[in-house]
Amino acid sequence: MPTGFPLLSMPRQILVTSALPYANGSIHLGHLVEYIQTDIWVRFQKMQGHDCRYMCADDTHGTAIMLRAEKEGITPETLIGRVWDEHTRDFAGFNIGFDHYYSTHSDENRDLASTIYLRLQEAGLIDVKTIAQLYDPVKNLFLPDRFIKGECPKCGAADQYGDNCEVCGATYSPTELKNPVSAVSGATPVHKDSEHYFFKLGACEAFLREWTTSGALQAEAANKMQEWFASGLNNWDISRDAPYFGFEIPNAPGKYFYVWLDAPVGYMASFARYAKDNGLDFNDWWGPESKTELVHFIGKDILYFHALFWPAMLKYSGHRLPTAVYAHGFLTVNGQKMSKSRGTFITADSYLAQGLNPEWLRYYYAAKLNGTMEDIDLNLDDFVARVNSDLVGKFINIASRTAGFIHKKFDGMLADGVTNIELVGEFQSAAGSIAAHYESRDFAKALREIMALADRANQYVADEKPWELAKKDEAVYRLHEVCTVSLNCFRLLTLYLKPVLPKLAEQVEAFLNIEPLTWDDAQSLFIRHRINEYSHLMTRIDPKSIEAMVDANKQNLEPTAAPTPARHAEAQVNAAHPVADTISIDDFSKIDLRIARIANAEHIEGADKLLRLTLDLGDLGTRQVFAGIKSAYAPEALIGRLTVMVANLAPRKMKFGMSEGMVLAASGSEPGLFILSPDHGAQPGMKVK
Ligand code: MSP
Ligand code: ZN
Repeated sequence: MPTGFPLLSMPRQILVTSALPYANGSIHLGHLVEYIQTDIWVRFQKMQGHDCRYMCADDTHGTAIMLRAEKEGITPETLIGRVWDEHTRDFAGFNIGFDHYYSTHSDENRDLASTIYLRLQEAGLIDVKTIAQLYDPVKNLFLPDRFIKGECPKCGAADQYGDNCEVCGATYSPTELKNPVSAVSGATPVHKDSEHYFFKLGACEAFLREWTTSGALQAEAANKMQEWFASGLNNWDISRDAPYFGFEIPNAPGKYFYVWLDAPVGYMASFARYAKDNGLDFNDWWGPESKTELVHFIGKDILYFHALFWPAMLKYSGHRLPTAVYAHGFLTVNGQKMSKSRGTFITADSYLAQGLNPEWLRYYYAAKLNGTMEDIDLNLDDFVARVNSDLVGKFINIASRTAGFIHKKFDGMLADGVTNIELVGEFQSAAGSIAAHYESRDFAKALREIMALADRANQYVADEKPWELAKKDEAVYRLHEVCTVSLNCFRLLTLYLKPVLPKLAEQVEAFLNIEPLTWDDAQSLFIRHRINEYSHLMTRIDPKSIEAMVDANKQNLEPTAAPTPARHAEAQVNAAHPVADTISIDDFSKIDLRIARIANAEHIEGADKLLRLTLDLGDLGTRQVFAGIKSAYAPEALIGRLTVMVANLAPRKMKFGMSEGMVLAASGSEPGLFILSPDHGAQPGMKVK
């Protein structure tokens, strides 16, 4: 069978991975882009008869998980066990068919990470250096950047995180913050020296430059690599001081591997355990001479780790290199970043809880994925329209309009042959190009081609009108033929859609009374065969259930302003939701909160985030305040509005002038700002208490 790619007769051996999701949060529709993309590719390879194994695991280490467990009063082990249960349940709900889903907190991972580290050390690639970092003297903890808050060194805005200012956009190091406080305890951090272990990435540059040209990377990723080379490769800090939830570094008491050191090793560890349980030879797959393919699917945000650190770690620890690293873009919902306030930060669980069919989402993502790093948008209206029209209106329709006659008139038997071999032949010969699109991860193209075939089949049914043939006795052979041809088309469409819609394909296989379809089956005819009775295969999406899902996710809003999730930064501690210590009523009454009328609001030249507000406090006069709310409000929309301000905040000199107070606005870990307003009747100058 001509499928148009190499090694026609030899089954390929392919080890495939998706990135390991952090064990400190729920799986959401953004994550699912990746797991669905990978799963489709894996299922396609398996249908080709290749020996393909899909490995994944939870990424369990780091400060975030440690603090979250502490806050919940449980051990990190208990926490990650609970999250593992949730994650595996969510993935199963979306028919993600991992061959093994493990945890980075495993013996295999500890052994492999230690071995790799020791080999890197032998190769002279580990450096030890003393560096100073901010330390929480109350919690006795080195503070990751996201756990430090303070005033921006550039614009003076209060309450900014350790790495960048949300008001003026400046980036800096946490040691530059003015009046820093620990977000964990509220204490003032101190500078403290400690020894850190570094992986000498700079020394791997020649190898990495060469590896970049090996064909393992997408063109966009290879370009990104050139930028990184141009700006210079920094040595990588791979150690963290106790207390840390992770693996202790061999011969370095009190020092732990940074979570990103042992995370990719988790791919290996997952396979090691699987190999042990399934009688495979680990070295066949990971040894330096391995002839198998190693394919990593990742999001574009973690390319640096997979295109620089990981190949270098593999190379200098005597392992094989990745055959391919495929990065995808980020999910937007209705054209915007997923947002808790808009209800578009949708968890996998809430989608399933609405009774929505997981294969609808698989289909929609597949229709959008094209193998590049471009972001993909889930437009909820388009989602409903597309799935209803393609899957129900086009695909299922072919069977629902013809299968009944086979039962009523022919005792469930298909005809002995088909004379109209052209249409079926056209469907059969598409197998090669559809396969090539799947192989190159251009699922969008594969589905366009499949749906064009579905259109052809529907046209055929519309032209032949089996419902009219059924009324004429003399047309009985023709009717048998037309229904048999239609069901041949339907079977082939099912086969081509099977990587995307595995459960639906299973139902169709049961209805058609056939063995699980493989790609080779495209070349056989479907005749002289008894099928089962047709029962409805898929319903339409009810837009109401989409609304209900969005509403349900709106209630997911975090009650406290948690730090913005610091994905992959030094800390992913957002899940710890540090809450301020309690204060007394006296402390509270020190804050003079007042109703203010926004008398004027205007843009400031050169300011990205700030608006200049003139606030009218009635008898108390007017105040000028600079507020970082430009992203959320047009100045015109604010003028005349009442809001709440802190009237006794010490005036601060900012780049654009003096700021004499602060306007209160709600914000969370998601974009979006909401200034507070009093109920009708409040007057400027009134005290708020
Ligand atoms: N734990 C790391 C990966 C370690 S791999 C050795 C991590 N975890 S994650 O949970 O934050 O993300 C897991 C995968 O989901 C990543 O590849 C990430 O790019 C992807 N996505 C997370 N949010 C996403 C979107 N909103 N859109 C698309 N993919 C997203 O990174
Ligand atoms: Zn600033």
